Amino acid sequence: MEKGTLHENCIVLIDELMTVKPELCTKVARLKKDKLDRILRIFAHYAGYFYYKSTSNKRMTAGYIPPSGKVLDENELFNMIDASLDMWLTAGRFHDEFENRFAVFLGVKHALAVNSGSSANLLAVSALTSHRLGDRRLMEGDEVITVAAAFPTTVAPIVQNGLVPVFADIEPGTYNIEPAKIENAVSGKTKAICIAHTLGNPFDIDKVLEVCDKYKLFLIEDNCDALGSKYASTAGSNESIKKYTGTFGDIATFSFYPAHHITMGEGGAVATDDPLLNKIMLSIRDWGRDCWCRTGKDNTCNQRFSQKHGKLPEGYDHKYVYSHLGYNLKITDWQAAIGLEQLIKLPKFIERRKENFRLLHDGLKRFEKYFILPRTIAKSDAAWFGFPITVKENKKFDKNKIVRFLEEHNIGTRQLFAGNVLRQPFFLNNEIKIRIGNSKILLSNSLTEDDYKMMPNTDMIMANTFWIGIWPGLQQEQIEYMAKKIGEFVTLHG
Ligand SMILES: Cc1ncc(COP(=O)(O)O)c(C=O)c1O
Repeated sequence: MEKGTLHENCIVLIDELMTVKPELCTKVARLKKDKLDRILRIFAHYAGYFYYKSTSNKRMTAGYIPPSGKVLDENELFNMIDASLDMWLTAGRFHDEFENRFAVFLGVKHALAVNSGSSANLLAVSALTSHRLGDRRLMEGDEVITVAAAFPTTVAPIVQNGLVPVFADIEPGTYNIEPAKIENAVSGKTKAICIAHTLGNPFDIDKVLEVCDKYKLFLIEDNCDALGSKYASTAGSNESIKKYTGTFGDIATFSFYPAHHITMGEGGAVATDDPLLNKIMLSIRDWGRDCWCRTGKDNTCNQRFSQKHGKLPEGYDHKYVYSHLGYNLKITDWQAAIGLEQLIKLPKFIERRKENFRLLHDGLKRFEKYFILPRTIAKSDAAWFGFPITVKENKKFDKNKIVRFLEEHNIGTRQLFAGNVLRQPFFLNNEIKIRIGNSKILLSNSLTEDDYKMMPNTDMIMANTFWIGIWPGLQQEQIEYMAKKIGEFVTLHG
């Protein structure tokens, strides 16, 4: 451009390199630091955008239909670039915004981000053992009702905290705890229920809340697979109140591993309406410390050097006072940056999951002679995590045969997690105190087949159930392909 070509203020879009002669330049203004920062970030976004657009098609694995997966676009990349440019690294502005927006989405008072769903479960169960809860705290040997057809880290924190897991059977079709069996499992030592909404399907929350209320039990909802599912509760009122699962118990946990409803790569969260439980969880998440300052902040309490704690010297720095046995379960700002963009996409993800589930259910309905198809309970509206199928007993084929067929035809399959966690090597190789239903205390390494028979549905489901995908990255053709291949299998073997 020649000097004098531009007569008014204007924006010049440059998509090619341009040589500028210094003698032709006139300084018109000085950019403030934040404006310059914004402009440089836009350049960085452009670089990311062009990279993303020229490589995104190559990321798909042609043909294969994974049972789960992540859906991302350039906006997650922009947020990650921004988090990189901040160079804050640990939990920072993205983290704070994520926690706030996640709590608003759910409609709860408090949410804390953690580095996985497993950490969220560990945090939730550990919080119930805090001395801050006084008489309500869970002590070694107290019992927690759960299920054995579980993800292992729903059960592990119960054992890790010296508590006794009590296993109740589940139902085929819903794959959730059998409501009628919950009360049967309660003993004088029972203090909590810790169960998942299996594969995103809400369990009978009103029934569970009724038992919790009657026996004064805590409820931990493992909502790791159910973000976006809803339930219309009538507990404690004549009106039915439809809310997200994860808002009914004392604490709910979430996973943001890529298979889940939203992702951060690795990540998770805990949510609660109870300020005391929130404070306890914040402490355990952040090394066990008593201080609640945000990362990079000091002296939020204004009493940093003027308090007496335990048998520490007067005025010992509050930043280094530990009121719990804690961990470091925090996330980085990159994780939160991805999570923030995923939260924007979440309503669409939920709708897509529901639609894919409906399509697949419609496509498989005619094979109910061979399969138990998934079902929800009346008060729920599930954002399913996956599509479980139980092979009914028949002389022609079993689960392994159809799973092999589907995998050979590029359809990814998964098991219902640990199947029966009590049959897993860990429980067989360690002497862990457990109960099944209303049994006496049993040792996990000396269980007999008769003991397992106290949970007949769990073993039946372990043997005959698998699940396939309905995640939002799957298109209608892929759902139809899965239904078609299952139809072909039934024609061949049914
Ligand atoms: C029900 C349930 N709880 C907990 C977890 C653990 O989550 P993460 O993989 O983030 O540790 C999972 C994982 O898929 C899960 O399905």
